Amino acid sequence: MKLNVLFSPGNTDELYFTGKTTVVIDVLRASTTIVEALKNGAKDVVPVATVEFAVKISGGMFCGQTLLGGERNTKKIEGFALGNSPLEYKSEIVNGKSIVFYSTNGTKAIVKAKFSEHLFISALTNMNAVAKHLLELGSDCVILCAGNNNLFSLEDSVCAGALIEEIINLEKTVLLSDSAKAALGLNKSFGKNKFNTLTESEHGKILIKNGFNKDLEFCSKENNANVVPVYSNSVIKTLG
Ligand code: MLT
Repeated sequence: MKLNVLFSPGNTDELYFTGKTTVVIDVLRASTTIVEALKNGAKDVVPVATVEFAVKISGGMFCGQTLLGGERNTKKIEGFALGNSPLEYKSEIVNGKSIVFYSTNGTKAIVKAKFSEHLFISALTNMNAVAKHLLELGSDCVILCAGNNNLFSLEDSVCAGALIEEIINLEKTVLLSDSAKAALGLNKSFGKNKFNTLTESEHGKILIKNGFNKDLEFCSKENNANVVPVYSNSVIKTLG
């Protein structure tokens, strides 16, 4: 089993992912929010690459059972029920619901990787569950950092390294590409205190400026969700 890391979706096209096992990471905040929504009983999450498509498909969905969620410039989109704060996705709100979900980088990365044979979502909150499942599957894996507008982001790259560390702790014989080794090194250098990693990251600073301090605390927690979100047939559900 070999692990590879793409530090941003910028240098690949959709076909690159054909037949691959892929894990998408967007710690701040899309992948953390997706994990939390599913943990709290959401039926599924439908990731979309544009706001217009979110509005279009939610109109045709069963009344009352579908919620629109997501952000533009970190803020809730006008007319949407929910923003992109994981703290909003409480069980009394999302239980049993489908959530059509748009975010600036996270959902675009997921949609880009849609031709993967297996496509999973990881945050810091569910790395251990994802690591265990990847080892069960045993196939080579690409970890795709959603990044920031096709550029590098520290928090996603550190999470990629932390996920690799989880896998190595369970199975020493996995092989690492150069970028996977670099991600591991980034986690060792910048990931000792994940809350500090997030607060010192560029996107973390923007979120703090916009009043989302509590989200950073929430997104920095490691392995409190035993959830493996898996994308198949255009929706993300919990594995199992
Ligand atoms: C993204 O997809 O870029 C993020 O989830 C944005 C955000 O933090 O709201």
